[in-house]
Amino acid sequence: MSSVPVIAIDGPSASGKGTVASLVAAALGFHYLESGALYRLVAYVGGTDPARDAAELDVAFLHGKIILSGRDVTDPIHTEAVGNRASEVAKISEVRAALLERQRAFRRAPGLVADGRDMGTVVFPDASLKVFLTASVGVRAQRRHKQLIDKGIHANLAALSRDLEERDARDAARAVAPLRPAEGAVLLDSTALTIDEVVDKVLMLFRKRNGGTA
Ligand code: DC
Repeated sequence: MSSVPVIAIDGPSASGKGTVASLVAAALGFHYLESGALYRLVAYVGGTDPARDAAELDVAFLHGKIILSGRDVTDPIHTEAVGNRASEVAKISEVRAALLERQRAFRRAPGLVADGRDMGTVVFPDASLKVFLTASVGVRAQRRHKQLIDKGIHANLAALSRDLEERDARDAARAVAPLRPAEGAVLLDSTALTIDEVVDKVLMLFRKRNGGTA
């Protein structure tokens, strides 16, 4: 097992995991892994053999941008349609297996913050801190709606809410690495919290576990 510390942040769609994880990583000077991007990339490639696509992805994460075979695909992989397809390919155990080592390779000094669905349960079971971040479906749909509208993308709140519930149900019901809190995970409900409050809580929990050294 590696001694490089990992903070695993899992939770349902649009719970704010990505924003929180990248801010926590920045505050600590740690690397950041958005594991959902890998499933989104496989869905985006859309080949007939998703496991092979997963194994062969030519991807680079550069300054917050996601580069697939030399092309910036950050925006196109973050659409709701690709998110929903990602949740489908994520059910395939061969896809998950093909992405496992790729995710673990992000664990480099001085540390890693990783967000997804199975960071604490499967990918980094020895993480120093595991957080399961939730929020009510209404608040998550509103946050996602605002994000899309801010980007100039048309969005319908009722449809978003329905899609989120469907996606959560699929992610939680699948046979391999289902969405669920890891053993020992701290449950954090962000429904009534700001992003900064959640980030501060995660930093405080990590510092407490690390004996105040980070
Ligand atoms: O975190 P996200 O919304 O970008 O993830 C998109 C989909 O990818 C999600 O619905 C399920 C899948 N996923 C997964 O199965 N395991 C992960 N660690 C991350 C994402």
